[in-house]
Amino acid sequence: MASVVVVGAQWGDEGKGKITDFLAARADLVVRYQGGNNAGHTVVADGKEFKLHLIPSGILYPEKMCLVGNGVVLDPAVFLQEIDRLTEQGISTANLRISPRTQVIMPYHRKLDLCEEKRRGAGKIGTTGRGIGPAYVDKAARVGIRVCELIDPPAFAQRLQAVLKDKNELLEKYYGESGFDYQALYDEYVAYGRRLAPFVADVSVIIDEALQAGRHVLFEGAQGTLLDVDHGTYPYVTSSYPVAAGACHGSGVGPTRIDRVIGVAKAYVTRVGEGPFPTELCDATGEYLRQKGHEFGTTTGRPRRCGWFDAVIARYAVRINGLSSLAITKLDVLTGLDTLRLCVGYEYRGQIIRDLPATLTQLAECKPVYEELPGWQEDIGTVRRYEDLPANARRYLERIVELCGVPVCIIGVGPGREQTLVLQELF
Ligand code: GDP
Ligand code: IMO
Ligand code: MG
Repeated sequence: MASVVVVGAQWGDEGKGKITDFLAARADLVVRYQGGNNAGHTVVADGKEFKLHLIPSGILYPEKMCLVGNGVVLDPAVFLQEIDRLTEQGISTANLRISPRTQVIMPYHRKLDLCEEKRRGAGKIGTTGRGIGPAYVDKAARVGIRVCELIDPPAFAQRLQAVLKDKNELLEKYYGESGFDYQALYDEYVAYGRRLAPFVADVSVIIDEALQAGRHVLFEGAQGTLLDVDHGTYPYVTSSYPVAAGACHGSGVGPTRIDRVIGVAKAYVTRVGEGPFPTELCDATGEYLRQKGHEFGTTTGRPRRCGWFDAVIARYAVRINGLSSLAITKLDVLTGLDTLRLCVGYEYRGQIIRDLPATLTQLAECKPVYEELPGWQEDIGTVRRYEDLPANARRYLERIVELCGVPVCIIGVGPGREQTLVLQELF
């Protein structure tokens, strides 16, 4: 029996979907534990590309159980569309389950997300506009609607009546926007609830029984460590707990049941949306990485900001998540660069610091301290063994291992499932 958490070690889009799909071959259950359809996880299997937003990246294996935990915020229309699209592509969703405790994203959450961003003006966060923040706000304010209420029309009516009046008042009186009609919203969402009902089951119980039966459980994080609402570059973060601890809280599993935590990191760094990014490259090299790595958002299509690998944030991810090892993705994208840079520390007011500061003003003053390493020119997309990587690629990875203090377990040399080097078996 083993349970493994896959967590983003940077600002999201590290390739968690690909790594989860790869590891899912050996797992029995795959569990999403936080976030919502702000996530976009791309899986390429047998040359076919799948973009998943809410459904766990284990869904391509028909026999695996795929679970959506209580820590997720679920937009029912998006979830049902995703099921329909997978069904059209011949993928079965018969083994999909959702926790009754999962919070529901309502249309007023999406509208408030957009209104709040507009009001922030130049100080905007650059959210995905999917209603994620407002849905988590309502959960904490205890006015959220959960899946167990959505599928129970009288309970739904009671919750919606109580909350919609306040939401409409906020939209109309404060933002000068139109509100929502109660009956239309009720009818639309009760219909979603009817379709969702067969998928609802106690996720915590399913995981517990699986672990007791000696099965392998894989937890799939969304977003990344630096987007965590507590540990990320606040306030330029998402509103959930992408860190490994979130896997326990967001699925109803105790921390003693987790065996390993895999941090997924790109061989460089990207970020979508606003907020600090010390190693960002606003030059031709940044553009090279964006074009070669197809660094455009899976969910919003926005160009991703690109920069050098940052060992300060990687070490931070090792500490915050208790990483057992790192999965380094997109190593192939660095091919062709003569010289590579690794950020080994930050210079702050004449001193070298190795730990991520908490304040944005301090972070803004930090200048990355770089170490230079020689690049390689060979195409590595067909390499399948570590020993067959160019010597300079191995040297680059070995330096990352030294700087981060944990081993590398997996290396990605392309988007395909087969373009994966395994250095350490995890199940
Ligand atoms: P996620 O949100 O962490 O699942 O990452 P995304 O799917 O948003 O973004 C990662 C992108 O990189 C996807 O388009 C993947 O298909 C692609 N990808 C993943 N691993 C590799 C790799 O090792 N090499 C290359 N070239 N692309 C990769
Ligand atoms: P995956 O799972 C990258 C970013 C947004 C914005 C901030 C807050 O694919 O790695 P939100 O809509 O969550 O309130 O936006 O977080 N963001 C992501 N960036 N990958 C993601 O997910 C993201 N989900 C949210 O761009 O900066
Ligand atoms: Mg993504």
